Amino acid sequence: MDQYRVYGNPIKQSRSPFIHTAFAKSTNQELCYLSELVPLDTFAQTIRQFVLEGGKGANITVPFKEQALALCDQLSERARLAGAVNTLSFRNGNIIGDNTDGLGLVKDLLQNKVDIEEANILLLGAGGAAKGVILPLLEQAPSLIVIANRTVSKAQSLCRQFNSEKLSACGFEQIDKIHYDIVINATSASLSGSVPPIAERLIHSDTVCYDMVYGQGLTPFLEWAKQLGSKKLIDGLGMLVGQAAESFNLWRGVMPETEQVLQNLRTSLENNN
Ligand code: ATR
Repeated sequence: MDQYRVYGNPIKQSRSPFIHTAFAKSTNQELCYLSELVPLDTFAQTIRQFVLEGGKGANITVPFKEQALALCDQLSERARLAGAVNTLSFRNGNIIGDNTDGLGLVKDLLQNKVDIEEANILLLGAGGAAKGVILPLLEQAPSLIVIANRTVSKAQSLCRQFNSEKLSACGFEQIDKIHYDIVINATSASLSGSVPPIAERLIHSDTVCYDMVYGQGLTPFLEWAKQLGSKKLIDGLGMLVGQAAESFNLWRGVMPETEQVLQNLRTSLENNN
């Protein structure tokens, strides 16, 4: 049976085996997808061993996405610009790297009936998570993407890398007070229970507020946005399922339906499983 893995450290929390096993079932594909904890200093070795054993592909999660990029013989443009790889395919002894995280976000926004075309987007954060979604968002033809970050120089440097006139950079205090249609939290602030310090008047009832992080109940950013009256609050669980679907499609040539899997994951999360 075709073998796939997700590699990370830690890995116990990974929902990827559940998601891919459900996709395989719903599309009648025979495959085995397992998670594996990789010691911090043996990533490259682990991947090469899996290739030798005939593995077909792998997902890569924290903290190995940059190391995965360095291992690849071929890279997609998305992965190159993201500076990180979350999907490896092994073909004829070659390691091919892609990054489906940004597509996962776009897919989830579209699934939630959010118009990205011509939208004004405010992207909070300039780390790996933000970087990975910029190209797929630009491909949807928004009007503009403002990247705001605590460390302004990092936002400016991201802007330069992408070289698009739709992109601009600033600090949280200098965000232009135009009407943003979508505000995406790509900072890791929610993980420490905090919210990026942006002006409350940036949030309106029709502002779509998206947090790439997910958990039981609303994340701190989404809770804050709700208090300010935003009616469209979306967390990152759909993005997780979306990126998995894109990886599955790269490997198997079949795009799985995501809605049922997302519902099941949500139920399991709310039941604290
Ligand atoms: P990731 O891969 O999750 O993006 P990262 O590359 O370490 O992780 O980036 C974390 C991002 O969250 C950065 O944009 C960081 O801001 P700085 O560049 O100024 O460090 C942002 N961040 C983390 N904690 C934050 C907080 N409490 N408030 C605002 N921004 C925060």
